Amino acid sequence: MIPKSVALPYGWRMRAHHIDRPADLDVVRESYDRVADNYVHMVVTTGIGDIRHHPWLKASIDAFADTVSGLGPVLDVGCGPGTVTAYLAERGLDVSGVDLSPRMIENARRLYPDCRFSVASATDLDLDEASLGGVLGWWSLFNLPRDVLPQVLASFTRALKPGGHLITATHVGDEDLERTEAYGGVPVRWTTHKWQPEQLVALIEKAGLHPVAELRLPADEVSGPGVVVMAKRPG
Ligand SMILES: C[S@@+](CC[C@H](N)C(=O)[O-])C[C@H]1O[C@@H](n2cnc3c(N)ncnc32)[C@H](O)[C@@H]1O
Repeated sequence: MIPKSVALPYGWRMRAHHIDRPADLDVVRESYDRVADNYVHMVVTTGIGDIRHHPWLKASIDAFADTVSGLGPVLDVGCGPGTVTAYLAERGLDVSGVDLSPRMIENARRLYPDCRFSVASATDLDLDEASLGGVLGWWSLFNLPRDVLPQVLASFTRALKPGGHLITATHVGDEDLERTEAYGGVPVRWTTHKWQPEQLVALIEKAGLHPVAELRLPADEVSGPGVVVMAKRPG
């Protein structure tokens, strides 16, 4: 078995699987810190971004929850203010959330004090091999550069137990959209890397997962087109 990390003197750990650090990670973190309060206000006051108000997204998360129930711990990567983390906890799952933005996590802890949250990038998780029943990348992986997303998906595959599932949702398109403001005119600097559903499914397969369901969401009055993909670690 490949060890997750190699023990080194003086408490240093060398990660067995390096993931490239996105060059813009710090500015992306600062941007989400700036929008976090407005994002929470939007979710709480309008229901936008809350699966409970979107029957098809809720159905996807319910199917995921039913599938991974009893398989092991679940990690919500890029959990933001913890809306889905808390929903899954309510459903009895052993779930925790992690997000790049400390301000998002402050909000998550305030809103859902009984849930477990931590601050980290998807690129820096150092997850134990075959330790998770489920992992989510719920509208949270689109800022990863195109060459980094496959590395993160491969890390999710390694972290899932055989039979464990990934669910991910992302924006559909071909462009790398440079955002300069978001969520009520807050200045931000991040790139939204859009994917065609076929491209995303191909990446997920290449990462070693077996896609089991795909939901396409056409653009509506609130958001552009999106896609949800659920996939299983074989075995
Ligand atoms: C649109 S919000 C979605 C939040 C949450 N999943 C939800 O559905 O409400 C995108 C989230 O992804 C997080 N994010 C962006 N890049 C990330 C990274 N490299 N690692 C972890 N989280 C990241 C942001 O901080 C932000 O909270």
